[in-house]
Amino acid sequence: MTIDIFWRIPTHGEPSSHRSKTPHRGDWFPGNDRLRERGLVGSDEGEFNYIDYLAEIAHAAEISGFQGGLIPSFPMTDEPWIISAALARETETFRFMIPFQPGFLNPVTAARMTATLQRATGGRALYNVITGGGGPAQLWWGDSTGHDDRYGRTTEFLDILQGLWKGEPFSYQGKFYQVDNARLAEALSKEDYPEIYFSGSSDAALASASKHANYYLSWLEPFDQLRQKFDRVKEKTHLLGRKIKCAVRVDIVARPTEEEAWDEVRLGFEALSKEAIQNFGRGDGGDSAGAARQWGNRPETINSYKDLIFEPNVWSGFNLLRGGQTNGIVGSYEQVAERLDQLVQLGADAFILASTPHLEEAYRVGEEVLPLVRGSTSAPALRAVG
Ligand SMILES: Cc1cc2nc3c(=O)[nH]c(=O)nc-3n(C[C@H](O)[C@H](O)[C@H](O)COP(=O)(O)O)c2cc1C
Repeated sequence: MTIDIFWRIPTHGEPSSHRSKTPHRGDWFPGNDRLRERGLVGSDEGEFNYIDYLAEIAHAAEISGFQGGLIPSFPMTDEPWIISAALARETETFRFMIPFQPGFLNPVTAARMTATLQRATGGRALYNVITGGGGPAQLWWGDSTGHDDRYGRTTEFLDILQGLWKGEPFSYQGKFYQVDNARLAEALSKEDYPEIYFSGSSDAALASASKHANYYLSWLEPFDQLRQKFDRVKEKTHLLGRKIKCAVRVDIVARPTEEEAWDEVRLGFEALSKEAIQNFGRGDGGDSAGAARQWGNRPETINSYKDLIFEPNVWSGFNLLRGGQTNGIVGSYEQVAERLDQLVQLGADAFILASTPHLEEAYRVGEEVLPLVRGSTSAPALRAVG
């Protein structure tokens, strides 16, 4: 069995360690006058900007054996389609996992964008289909569609994408989309159909994933809970006569010893304000079933980083350190690899890993942890472009 391992490209700026909250890298943080004076950041022509930094991370991950990277897409990030195109010519085998909410793109336009990116990169584009978490973040994009309708729209979008890829004129009459004799240019329809990772934990998400996804992707949850979720999505997909694999997106802190790893977490935790700790997990989670599952382990009172450990080497406080999903793995190189192996035993076929700072940690995790994960594959030999 082979396990595909991806890294993550931090499109939201990043600090130099889990202990800092200031995104110093590149020109992301405009208030960084100290670094600007030294000529280390800037956005004028010829200066090193944040996208140059992302290219360094992609290179590091490629060299260290990762298949590619997930390029997150939130209101306050760079745009992943554009970042992929920019990084494509700087890398050779690195694959670009592009998250996007189908509702925000016309499916015929998306098919053309994808096929063009496949041509430009030698088939290195793949999707993380996301469907949005409701609440203020959804309204930020101007989308007030209800939760289950969003998934209905996602399913129709993927129906059309698949139909178009056959290369024949394609018509579709759905609730959200209608197309009449749509067609991709012949050269484009010959490109590889993108591999589809699919995120979402609700029943509506599982129904849509079972119809269209190659990989069902989840944040880390308590291991038994995750096993049940993977079993459920595999069963649902099987009923449709299809197969699906499963993947976990998880942050890690891996160090030579367990003590050093927890020290990194402890120092990050101790740098937080009391208010940040009190408000932890109490924000507006929108209508996301996945987000509700993420916060399910929050203890009533949090006095120490240790209160957030809910299984051996599993810590639920990552959101405090760098925002985003909150459950991750902390331990020695061997322990992190063992936990990943356990996730493989319970049904994972792929991982998207991350750690801060993504540049140095890509080397560390690639060199020290990946070789210990049973069945992990090195970066694929794809058609190299650029
Ligand atoms: C692994 C993973 C990655 C995600 N990445 C993004 C992202 O980049 N941008 C985004 O807006 N939402 C992202 N989401 C959230 C999904 O869009 C969606 O809000 C969430 O899964 C809610 O669906 P649910 O109610 O079915 O759980 C991600 C979710 C998961 C599980």
